[in-house]
Amino acid sequence: MPHTALWLDVGPVEQLPALGARTLPVQGGQEIAIFRTANGDVYALQNKCPHKQGPLSQGIVHDTTVTCPLHNWRISLISGQALGDDEGCVPTIPVKIDGGRILIGRKEALAGAA
Ligand code: FES
Repeated sequence: MPHTALWLDVGPVEQLPALGARTLPVQGGQEIAIFRTANGDVYALQNKCPHKQGPLSQGIVHDTTVTCPLHNWRISLISGQALGDDEGCVPTIPVKIDGGRILIGRKEALAGAA
């Protein structure tokens, strides 16, 4: 079905605790970080801080931002933009929840491997 090919099922949403994150390896040694906020929304970004490629999945989630564990840049989970005085942007990956499963955009996820 062409429709399902657009989305990659990465597992049940209940496996991702609120304020938690998990990573998903993609081709080329890259990783995607998948985050869940306090109110249950799920976001996916490349697991690379736009500053010096810190692993955002190990950062602290607060509202719709994650704080990079290396030098505390704050990154919007919605836009991937660095907030405050910092500049940079990490690619975001579309996410939807369907039947309790987390689906991420296949094309964008694989583009992260480029
Ligand atoms: S690598 Fe993320 S703040 Fe420096």
